Amino acid sequence: MKNLLITGGCGFIGTNFIRYLFNQPDFTGRMINVDRLTYAGNPENLKDIEKMFPDRYVFVQADICDPEKLAGIFDAYDIDTVCHFAAESHVDRSIVSPDDFIKTNIIGTFNLLEIARNRKNRLRRFHHISTDEVYGSLGNDGYFTETTPYQPSSPYSASKASSDHLVRAYHTTYNLPVTLSNCSNNYGPYQFPEKLIPLMILNALEGKPLPVYGDGKNVRDWLYVDDHCSAIWEILRHGKEGETYNVGGDCELENITLVETICDAIDNATGKDAVKARRELITFVKDRPGHDRRYAIDATKIKKELGWMPKTPIEKGIQSTINWYLENDNWVTRVRSGAYREWIQRQYQTE
Ligand code: NAD
Ligand code: TYD
Repeated sequence: MKNLLITGGCGFIGTNFIRYLFNQPDFTGRMINVDRLTYAGNPENLKDIEKMFPDRYVFVQADICDPEKLAGIFDAYDIDTVCHFAAESHVDRSIVSPDDFIKTNIIGTFNLLEIARNRKNRLRRFHHISTDEVYGSLGNDGYFTETTPYQPSSPYSASKASSDHLVRAYHTTYNLPVTLSNCSNNYGPYQFPEKLIPLMILNALEGKPLPVYGDGKNVRDWLYVDDHCSAIWEILRHGKEGETYNVGGDCELENITLVETICDAIDNATGKDAVKARRELITFVKDRPGHDRRYAIDATKIKKELGWMPKTPIEKGIQSTINWYLENDNWVTRVRSGAYREWIQRQYQTE
């Protein structure tokens, strides 16, 4: 793994993965981070990495929907490994406005696959990051395994399902050395405050209503982002070509329970006096259309075959996530600001 292309490295999981990898003694290669810098991407997340590893970390602002620019990057940096995170990732946005989801998640992935196929002799591995949402909704029982049929509900999950099928087809048809991972809901530092956990943390800190969809009894399986990063690193090094690995946190929670846990943790961290007891901020709101009831991952395959395990208990993960948002209020102000976004776009514009 000499020249590793990361797509979407300025987003939540990509940022954490890049930071994780530069801490691994057995990663000695160069990393080329390609990101379009949508509202969800912030290259400043990696400023310290850029300074510490000037010869081993490169950022290029580019859209994965631009095949010519992408091909140029593959050739200029002699890419041998791809780890593909870039996507439009928020279900609620996909319901309001699906276009970018189709473009980035489907066409963007197709572009990457085509460029990789045309350089197959150079390519050691194409790893595709996907989601458990492709499997649709579970009832009260059962788990998603790698052989669960796809039944996506939202434009987001349908676009991810489509990209998964393309990746597998490129293995079957062209023998491209692919691996895939389908993981559950991640949480941790650098997550854009539109997803449940950072939104609830920030609203609770600011004394704003905590909007819980429907009856709050939808279940998600929560995975601390560092545990996801270690799973991807295992798969990149030891995963078998053509295989899919489900990655989960063994941590199913109803949304309402999770939100109450966050409220109590923030009360403990900051004192109740600043704002009224946070649980009182919980507000049940209209349900999300097509809202999947329950996700739960059976991660036996990656545990048995690659010896991976999630290591972070939810209480610890939530506490360190709350601490991170408390210590990084500047980051929050910046990512929420339109003016900052425009400035970032100008700073990092590349031909
Ligand atoms: P994110 O929205 O935080 O980040 C996405 C990144 O991709 C951003 O930096 C954005 O600028 C970049 N991007 C978007 N469109 C692009 C384009 N056309 N060209 C280049 N870059 C582009 O997402 P995330 O939460 O970090 O998710 C990363 C991956 O993991 C996605 O593929 C997502 O489907 C998958 N995933 C996420 C979760 C989760 O809980 N966050 C769970 C399962 C799977
Ligand atoms: P989200 O973080 O959007 O992830 P996903 O939809 O990919 O699972 O939402 C997690 C769960 O929280 C999901 O069941 C929807 C719910 N939710 C709320 O109840 N209120 C909110 O404001 C948000 C953003 C999500």
